[in-house]
Amino acid sequence: MSYAPLAPPGLAVEDRTQEIARELLERARREHHHLTTLNRWTKRVLAWSLSDAQLKAGVLRFIDCLPSLTTPQAVARHLHDYFPLHHLRLPAAFRLGVSLSRPGLLTAPAVSAVVRHIVEQVARQFIAGSHLHDALGLIHRMADRGVLVSFDVLGEQVTSDDEANTSVRRYTTLISELSTACRRLHAPDAVGDRPLVHLSIKPSSLSAHFDPVSFEESVADALRRLRVIARDAVDHDVAITLDMEQYRLRDLTLELARRLLVEPGLGERLQLGIVLQAYLRDTPQVFGELLSWLRDHGRRLSVRLVKGAYWDSEVAYAKQRGWLLPVYHNKRQTDEAFERLTEQMLSHRELVRPELGSHNIRSIAHAMAVAESLGSSKDAVEYQLLYGMGDAIQGAIRQLGFPVRVYAPLGELIPGMAYLVRRILENTANESFLRQDLE
Ligand code: FAD
Ligand code: 2OP
Repeated sequence: MSYAPLAPPGLAVEDRTQEIARELLERARREHHHLTTLNRWTKRVLAWSLSDAQLKAGVLRFIDCLPSLTTPQAVARHLHDYFPLHHLRLPAAFRLGVSLSRPGLLTAPAVSAVVRHIVEQVARQFIAGSHLHDALGLIHRMADRGVLVSFDVLGEQVTSDDEANTSVRRYTTLISELSTACRRLHAPDAVGDRPLVHLSIKPSSLSAHFDPVSFEESVADALRRLRVIARDAVDHDVAITLDMEQYRLRDLTLELARRLLVEPGLGERLQLGIVLQAYLRDTPQVFGELLSWLRDHGRRLSVRLVKGAYWDSEVAYAKQRGWLLPVYHNKRQTDEAFERLTEQMLSHRELVRPELGSHNIRSIAHAMAVAESLGSSKDAVEYQLLYGMGDAIQGAIRQLGFPVRVYAPLGELIPGMAYLVRRILENTANESFLRQDLE
């Protein structure tokens, strides 16, 4: 795979942004006639579940507690409690299910099976599978399209040391098995200097005590496990990125990254990445401090710029406590911050390897226009998208010759519930780019 240089800078960034956005949109439309590739059934379920705020809350609460419901009767009871018949314009199949789901009725196992099936179908849209062969299959399919993958092992906010140790085992197994299989699949330089095997790790999956209240202990406990993964990653030429989770874990996560980067024998060899969330008001300042630290310590880091996936919970968490919101209130402010941070990131390529995690054509086109205005080549930024979201835009970016990586979660539904709920929220939010019908 090679990346041709971009056209020389010419038009102002805003004009070029709009020009590139139109081009991307056209190509995305031609690819699939629709920007998202949510299958028609998933689209119908999601469209129904967002049709009213009370219903949406009920669906999300129900999905969230489904894994902990161990008997069909419990599923039936919750279904009945969360979806009172009088309130809803339920699809016919659901209406029947709810009316038959009163506890104790013989139909409870059947209703429970149907409901689980529906949730699993929606999950399949966003979760790439649960086995190594699913991961390998995805790498093959994506390689055919010239697209790279980053795997995330589902599971976050672990509650015991055993769970945290299991996370580490899952990551190290994935590293050794994937890298062996990929070496067979590709020539080593097939993607230039971009790592073929890439993992995204949730820091809260590495320690049951990952809490800023005990900052040092939290960092030490998570670092102990992260070090094991990082050493394996270095040995197998695998890159890792620390995902960014809730605001309260942000400083812990950045500290983990800094400690790894100065770890003797590891820091200078590790291909490490972190994530910045544009919806946080203080991200520009935090990014500035990070740049100074990288300069002072002679290190380079991959930075994935995203808008932030925890908006609803950040707002609820801060409001409950009467705190100032750490996130912007309007989506437009987040979008504008994202563009300013894109510019900041692209202006410091000596310190960071820029990555852009977005499905929004405007945000993507803006990054392309800024890179162009700085005279960078097309591979200056890696464009990243989530599995199951925006396949058409993914194709359009590739067609224009830019590097693309898909973030693919692997695992079971139960540890994946929180991830699934975030994707449903994104796909059903009124202001989400993903909801726009672009036909
Ligand atoms: P858009 O529709 O343009 O933007 C939606 C986003 O706007 C929301 O997610 C939210 O951040 C913001 N928003 C919505 N409403 C408001 C409002 N009222 N006020 C202010 N802001 C608002 N997220 C993480 O938090 N951590 C990660 O580690 C992470 N990794 C990712 C990796 C990849 C490859 C990708 C593609 C995304 C990742 N995300 C991560 C998710 C990301 O933060 C967004 O939630 C998601 O991409 C949707 O944003 P968008 O630009 O695609 O869509
Ligand atoms: C999330 O887990 C993709 O990291 C992001 O929602």
